[in-house]
Amino acid sequence: MNKTIYFIANWKMNGNHNSINEIERVSNFFRKNTIYKFKKIIFCPPSNLLSSFSKKIKSKLIDFGAQDISKINLHNGPYTGQLSAKMLKDSGANYVIIGHSEKRLIDEDLKTIKEKINIALKNKLKIIFCIGENLLQKNKGSSLNVLKRQILSSLDKKKINFNNLIIAYEPIWSIGTGIVPSNNYLDKIYRNLKKFIKEKYKVNSPIMLYGGSVTTDNVVTLGKIGLISGFLIGGASLKSTSFIKIIKNYFK
Ligand code: PGA
Repeated sequence: MNKTIYFIANWKMNGNHNSINEIERVSNFFRKNTIYKFKKIIFCPPSNLLSSFSKKIKSKLIDFGAQDISKINLHNGPYTGQLSAKMLKDSGANYVIIGHSEKRLIDEDLKTIKEKINIALKNKLKIIFCIGENLLQKNKGSSLNVLKRQILSSLDKKKINFNNLIIAYEPIWSIGTGIVPSNNYLDKIYRNLKKFIKEKYKVNSPIMLYGGSVTTDNVVTLGKIGLISGFLIGGASLKSTSFIKIIKNYFK
């Protein structure tokens, strides 16, 4: 079976107006190299660039996502600094990242994450929902408990639609550190999460990604984990050369 493999570029607080060249190079490469069929590429630039990028890049090969959404359930209003779901959609986003550990550290608690997820769903934005344990939790052996709690407390059984949801498992101790879990460790995590989601949500095949220090090299090893449907990529997604190479190496 050829399932779709997601390559999601999380640019975080990086990029400027010239960075569109990087996306154009990715788009041109895959337009010419049509053998890489079973992939989905999503760029999540900072929101100040989203609208101009999505207007200029008119390629079926490239989709766009936002890195955050307001928890205020309104299209507009007197809320300084907020971007509503409708605004993000108007800017060309079809996806939104929610629950990233870097956001959790700043201002996203479990309740906020749940609210944001429900607003995104209601407004037909697909969700890239990030979960992950920190090093202390991992060393205590409580990774799975932490992940299960993050899932249960954010995904409302009555409202969630797994067709519009991508779960990105990103161990916090892997993000930006160059440290990647072993395949054995990951295999255990994904198997357990799959079982847990089946029990709790009656869903057989949730889309689950891996994120954290993905590189052109380790993507080959990570790609051997059958339950992974792709990657959420930070640092290595900023330059078209490494991003393209990650995708090429995955399909090698
Ligand atoms: P990284 O970031 O690839 O730079 O580790 C991944 C992420 O935070 O989504």
